[in-house]
This record gives sequence, structure tokens and C-alpha cells, in this order.
Amino acid sequence: MTVGAPTPRVEGRLKVTGAARFAADHPVEGVVHAVVVDATVGRGRITGIDVDAATAQPGVLAVISHVNAPRLPYRDNAGSHHPPGQRLRVFQDDRIRFFGQPVAVVVASTLPSAQHAAGLIEVAYEAERPSFDLDSAPANEPVAYARGSAEEALASAAVRLDVTYRTSRNHHNPMEPPATIAAWDGDRLTVWDKTQWVGGTQAELAAVFGLPDEAVRVLSPFVGGGFGSALRCWPHVVIAALAARVVGRPVKLVLTRRQMYVGTGFRPAYRYRLRLGSDRDGRLGAAVHDIRAETSRYENFHEGILAVGQMMYSLPHVSQEYRTVPLDVNTPVWMRGPGYSTAAFVIESALDELADRIGVDPVELRHRNEPTHDESTGLPFSTRRLRECLDVGAREFGWRNRPPAPRSQRDGDWLIGTGMAAGGYDASRDAAQARARLDADGSAVVEAATSDMGPGTYTSMTQVAADALGLAVDRVRFRLGDSLLPPTPSHGGSQTMASVGSAVQDGCDNLRRQAIALAVHDVDSPLHGADPDTVIVRAGRMSVRDHPARGETYSQLLSRQGRTHLEAPGSFTPPPPPERFSLYGFAATFAEVAVDARLGLVRVRRMLGVYDAGRIINPMLADSQAIGGMVGGISTALLEHTVTDPRDGRIANANLADYLVPVNADMPELRAVYLPGEDREVDPLGVKGIGELVHVGVAPAIANAVFHATGRRIRELPITADMLL
Ligand code: MOS
Repeated sequence: MTVGAPTPRVEGRLKVTGAARFAADHPVEGVVHAVVVDATVGRGRITGIDVDAATAQPGVLAVISHVNAPRLPYRDNAGSHHPPGQRLRVFQDDRIRFFGQPVAVVVASTLPSAQHAAGLIEVAYEAERPSFDLDSAPANEPVAYARGSAEEALASAAVRLDVTYRTSRNHHNPMEPPATIAAWDGDRLTVWDKTQWVGGTQAELAAVFGLPDEAVRVLSPFVGGGFGSALRCWPHVVIAALAARVVGRPVKLVLTRRQMYVGTGFRPAYRYRLRLGSDRDGRLGAAVHDIRAETSRYENFHEGILAVGQMMYSLPHVSQEYRTVPLDVNTPVWMRGPGYSTAAFVIESALDELADRIGVDPVELRHRNEPTHDESTGLPFSTRRLRECLDVGAREFGWRNRPPAPRSQRDGDWLIGTGMAAGGYDASRDAAQARARLDADGSAVVEAATSDMGPGTYTSMTQVAADALGLAVDRVRFRLGDSLLPPTPSHGGSQTMASVGSAVQDGCDNLRRQAIALAVHDVDSPLHGADPDTVIVRAGRMSVRDHPARGETYSQLLSRQGRTHLEAPGSFTPPPPPERFSLYGFAATFAEVAVDARLGLVRVRRMLGVYDAGRIINPMLADSQAIGGMVGGISTALLEHTVTDPRDGRIANANLADYLVPVNADMPELRAVYLPGEDREVDPLGVKGIGELVHVGVAPAIANAVFHATGRRIRELPITADMLL
């Protein structure tokens, strides 16, 4: 069995030797280069574009803007995940909706020519004053949720908390920039794109250009990090295709790091007021959530901010109002642990405040509020082992020796504190297909259209396929990232293993059974007449379970029968609604921090995450996810902050020098523990998803540790030195 065993990445060598081809790396005959010119006002109208100097440059093939761009159909794309609203239609009108919106594209035979010409374009604007005021700008209609009578219960609660938290806008900043190569052949479009969803990009390009889906092929065999940033077909992808159509040549378009900040989405900033009522023992009675989050003026982006407040704890009275606030920004998108991370920062910090107020240990407080079922749906949890996560975590972290009072531990200039937080994330899955083929040499090729943005999908799918086929890992090749392959859902929301993995297992099970059926019906096979249910496959050899000598290999069977290959489809379909169970993964995160008493510097000293994530396909990859989640959470808690200039909406730190992310020297010992188990209610593989879960709960564990170290409660992210002085 390779599932469950630490298995190095099958594509690792390709990546470290530079042989893996990312979107912009594909050699395409005759490719030319595009550079986007973006708006330098935050709101208003284009009154003129002077392209003469740019057009006159040697090598320049076209300058395209709203003045001369072909009008595009921009059909509805019903199967997309687009937020409601009207998506940004590139070069279709003169409106400026946010600072950095594309206003023109230069296409030239070389990249330097295109860059130089782009710098020569003069755009005149009639600028209006943009608004970025999350607190006071008019909001959209709220999404509301209520159970019980929260206001009344709150008014009569023995202990009340009324706290407002703020989180900042964050950008994904994956290593690979957004990049697209687009090539037309008549009315057929081929696109090499950085995407977490080849099928989604295919459908969107088909809709924008008014083509049948089959006329668009999207390839994305490698993705250099995503974190959610490539879940959508962004405007630059359309620009690349549009430019290629205009010049009649393949076009390569790579956004700069600065352009990434406005060319893709971001984790929206929140202002989140939470009022909590409990009894004197910390049993929660009521919670009122008043939530505001930024969105764009052209689309209304919502994310899973409400679930944590509904299902994490036993709470008879809950009321939530979630208002998005249209501002002069581009549209946000999901970013690691979307919604849940932000909600957990608020709720898990507030629980820590409550624990401190009433003198109950924070771990014990979570135990006291553990629900017996999901109180938002009335359904039992398929598996919910948060209590075990808390207890294993407390034991392994050494929580028992923690002095309850804040600011009670010191190490020289450093104040030392520990904190913890719980987390949960939706165990989602969606319909997926796969295809498995056994070749005459006894090796297999398994295919599905999914992506691998870094979690190790190539490897984990290969492991699942290898076990189902009875082959060694190195006899199986997994192919992904091509819209011609069997369709899969978006590579996001931690649903890939559950959805695609289950389809892969199904296809490989079908293929194995097909081979066994051929053998037992073949009079020349040693397996002839055997009961197929007693035939097992090990290392490519089929044999009768209790008579290992009676058997033959896949390739002996195929060559005797004169077949080049066998093939089988696989699929996974979630059970039709209604769900019988509430499906979530759970986590407990523990952190120790040191805060310099005089400088306010925060250093994380160690972290431990304990996860109830169902079956772990590959502990080596899971560790990469969990450690990456902790790194990302430390980053959210202490460093990341997209700063907008309120005068015009320019992002002041749109580069990796000023937008802070952690480096190795910031990283302490990070340890992940997985509760052994599986959850077959979620999917046949028993996995609950891990990539998002591991980010939820990290920031509040750190914020709570900072409180324990200093006695200062910081209700804002990121927590920076100035706030602690
Ligand atoms: Mo994940 S935020 O769905 O890439």
C-alpha cells in the first residue's frame, strides 16, 4: 500500500531541474508579447488615449484599447463561480472602476519592445474621488442568519462581551505570476494558462468570445502556487486571447508582480463586531455578529464567513448580518481558508477574551461549548473529533503547565506567552471524472483535468491509482491540467482529493476488475475459472488470494490476448441532497510567542497543529500543507497587509519588498499531528480535505499567545510592533 505512506513528489525532479513547464514557459511557434497598460486613477473615465508614439516603435504590432477593441459577446457563464454582478469587460467602455484596471495592451515582437511602447502611451482621465471606507460607505443588502432570539438572550446574559475586530486586505502572492499564452487556429482557441480550474477558464473564454466550449482548449500542467488566486479566469486571460485574435499571432502575457495586485483578486478586509453572552462558567448563550467586508462596485463577492459562527460551538441564540460594501476596488476572491480563517480569528480571539474574563482555561472553555450536532442544520457531524484535537494538542504542546495570568513569563527582554485556537473547515466535494488505461507493458496512465497548484496532486493521485491497480507508484503516470481530459471541479476549497481522488479510485477499480474478468474468462490464463472476487493484484501480477502461485501479470494477459491496452472510466458523484450529515474537518492550533517588551517585536517560538482531517493519503504532502498553513497563518497574523492609498486607490506596497511575507528566519519549529481515521460519509476515500483547514485557527492562536505574553489584546491583523508599545 502506498496510500498512507510518505511518498516524495513524483514531479519533484521536473520542478527542481526546471523541466516543469509553467504557463509562460511553453514554447509556442511565432509567439509575440503583450504588456498591459493600467489605469492611474481610482475611479472615473478615460477621455483620451495617445498611442502614436507607441505604435511607431519598431516591433509593435498593435495597441488595443476601448477605442479600437472588437466588441466581445461576454455571454453569461452559468456554470462559473463568478459573484453576482457584471464581470469586468476588458476594453469595452471608457469607465475606470479601480486603480490599475487595464486600459490598453501593447503587442510587440519582443517583450522589451512591448514594455518600452507601453511606457509611451499617454492616457487622459476625468478622475472622480474613489471611496475605500469600509466603515461608512453604503453597504449592500445583508445576508442574514438567525436562530433563537439573540438580542434578548444577550441582554439577560450573566457575562457579556462586545468587541470589534479588523482584518486587512491580503494578496496571495504565489511565486508564479499570472500568465497566459493564447493561440488561435481559425475559430479555435488554445490557451496555456496559470489556472486552478482548466474547465472554468475554458467555459469563461468560450462565453466571453461567444464560442462553443469545445472550441477552447486550456492547458495548465504546472501551477506555481495559487492559494486561490487562480480560481478565476481573470481579465488578463481575456486580454491575451483578444490580442492574439487581433494580431493573428500567438500572444504571451505575463502580469508583473505589481499588476498581480489588481489583476487577480485578494482576501477582502473585514470589520467584524461580535457580541457574546455566556453564563459565569463560560457556557455560551448568545452571539450577535455584525460583519462588513469589502467588495467591488461591479461584483458582489461573498465567502464562507458565517459558517464558523453557526456550527463551531453550541449556541442556542445566534444572529448574523453580513454586509458587503462596494468600494472602488477590483473584485476579491477566495484566499486560503477563505472566510473561515477570518471568522475564526474573531471568534477564537473573543473566546480567549471570555476565558480570561471568567477565569476558565481556554481549552476547557472550548470543551464546555462543544455541540452534540450541527446546530445550524440539525444534522449530526459525520465525524467531529475536536475534543481529541484539543486534548492531544494540549498534551503534546505541554499546555498543562501554562500559568493562567497574562504577562507572567519572561525570558530576558522577551515576554513569553502561549495561546490556542480551534478551527473547522467545510469538507466539500463535487462531481468529478477520471480515466485509467493499462498499457501492454503493464504500466498505467491515469488522467483527469484537475490542477496541481502545489499540494502534490500528481503524487497523491498516483498513489491512489497505484493501490487500486495493484501497481508500484513508478508504474503509474498521472496526467492533469488539460481541458480535454475528463472534467473535474475547481482545484480549490480543499475538495480535490475527495472529488478527483474518488473518481481516480473508481476508474482504477473498474480497470482492475476489467483485467481480472478477462483473465478468469480466458481458457489460457492460469486464472481461468477463478472467482474474480478472490483475485488480488500485487506489483502488476494478478493471483488467487489463497494460492499465490496461480496467477499472471497484466502484461502477460494483454500480450496473449493481443491487446495494446485496456481502458476504464471513473467517476465520483456526491449523494443527492439533502445531506444526512454535516461535513467538516477540525483542528486545534497551539502557539508560543515571545514579544520584546521594549520593541514590540513578536517572534513565534513554536507551533503545533492537530488535525481531524480524515484519511491522510501522504503524510509527507500533508506536512507540507500543514506547515505551509502555519507559515501562512503566521504571515496573516503578523505580516501581511495590502496598503491602499486612500487618495486614489493605488496599492502602496504592490511588491514583495514592501508586502511582507515570512522568510525562513521567521519560522520556528512547526509540528503537525493527524488523528488517525477516515470519513466515508464525505467520500469513498475517507478524506476531509486539509489545505484550507490548516490555515484556520493559526492567526487567533498567535493573537491569543500575544495577549498571554503581554496582557495586550490586539483586535486587528496584522499585529505589528507599534500596536504593542
Ligand atoms: Mo483555495 S482559497 O480554494 O485555492
